[in-house]
Amino acid sequence: MTTDVNVKMDALPGLDPNALLLQVKNLQVEFRTRNGIAKAVNGVSFDVAPGQTRAILGESGCGKSVTAQAIMGILDSPPGFITGGEILYRGVDLLKLPEEQRRKVRANKIAMIFQDALSALNPVFTVGFQLAELYRKHRGMSRKDAKARAVELLDLVRIPAAKQRVNDYPHQFSGGMRQRVMIAMALALDPEVLIADEPTTALDVTVQAQIMALLAELQQERNMGLLLITHDMGVVADVADRISVMYAGRVIEEAGVDDIYATPAHPYTKGLLESIPRLDLKGQELSAIKGLPPVLTNIPPGCSFNPRCRYVQDVCRKDPAPQLYTVSSDRTAACHFWKEVKGDE
Ligand SMILES: Nc1ncnc2c1ncn2[C@@H]1O[C@H](COP(=O)(O)OP(=O)(O)O)[C@@H](O)[C@H]1O
Ligand SMILES: [Mg+2]
Repeated sequence: MTTDVNVKMDALPGLDPNALLLQVKNLQVEFRTRNGIAKAVNGVSFDVAPGQTRAILGESGCGKSVTAQAIMGILDSPPGFITGGEILYRGVDLLKLPEEQRRKVRANKIAMIFQDALSALNPVFTVGFQLAELYRKHRGMSRKDAKARAVELLDLVRIPAAKQRVNDYPHQFSGGMRQRVMIAMALALDPEVLIADEPTTALDVTVQAQIMALLAELQQERNMGLLLITHDMGVVADVADRISVMYAGRVIEEAGVDDIYATPAHPYTKGLLESIPRLDLKGQELSAIKGLPPVLTNIPPGCSFNPRCRYVQDVCRKDPAPQLYTVSSDRTAACHFWKEVKGDE
C-alpha cells in the first residue's frame, strides 16, 4: 500500500504551502456555438482560504457551474474554451501544469459535490464499492481495508447503520442520504478545497438545512476551503464568510457576508436580497427582480444589468462596463452608483 501521493504533490514546482488554497484570477471561458460566442465567464476573480466558505451567488445561467467546471478541469470542450486567466492551487497555476500533474491535484486536493447525486453516482455498483474504489485506485489499498474505510466515511456523513448500508445501491437511498453519499465520496481523499455546486437544490427545505449543517461542520473539522455555489441567498447567510455575486459571467459585487446583507452595494445584490422568501410575509408577492438575465451571446453594452436596474442612468448603457469600485478596504461593487445603492448618499 502506497500513500506517497502527497509526497509527489509537494514536489510540484512553485507549490507554496502558505499561499491561498485557491485563487481564480481574471478567468475567461467562452462557448463557441452556432449562435455565436457566449462569454460564460468574463474576467472572474476570487480566492478561497483554508477554513473559509466563499459563496458564488447568482441566478441560473450566469456562469457559476462553468467556473466550477473550469477549476475541476471538466469543462465541456468543445464547445467550451478557457481563453484567459489563471487558476492557482497554493500558488501553482493548474492551467499551466502538465495534464498528469493537473489530474493528480484535482483528484487529491480539490473535490466537487454536484447538484444531482443520482446522476453523479453509478447506478450499477453499491455505494460501498464506489467509495472503496477511490481508496483502491488512489491509495492502493486492499479490498478489505478500502471497504472498512467506506464504512467509516458513511459514518462520518452520519448515514445510520453504515455497516449495512454500504452494500446498498444508490437508488436505495433517499435524496438527502444520497447527497450524504456524494459528500462522503468528495471527502474520501481528504481534499483541501471542496466545491459544492447547488448541493441542496434538489432537496426539500428541512433536508437542505441538515445537509448544509453537515457540510459546514465537516468543513470546520477539516479546515477545508469551501466554494459554495448557489442561486439561493437564503442558503448562504448562515454558512458563508465571503460572497461573490455573479451576473452575466462577471463578479459584480464581492464582500463579507454581513456587509452584503446589511448594505448591498449593487442593485442586483439588493434585488436578490429582497427576493428571499420571508416567513413573516408568507403569501405575499416576492419582489423578485423583473426581467431575465441576458443571453450570453448578446450581452447589452455598458452594465449588463442595466435593462433590469431601477437605478439605471445613461452612463450605465454605455461601454465600458462599470469597473469594480472599492466600496471599503475589503469589498468591491461594479456599479457607478454604489453609494446611492448602499445608502451612503
Ligand atoms: N455545454 C454548453 N454549451 C454551450 N453553452 C454552454 C454550455 N454550458 C454552459 N453554457 C453557457 O454558459 C452559460 C452559463 O452556464 P452555467 O455556468 O451552467 O450557469 P449557472 O450559473 O446556472 O451554473 C449558459 O447560460 C450558457 O450560455
Ligand atoms: Mg449551475
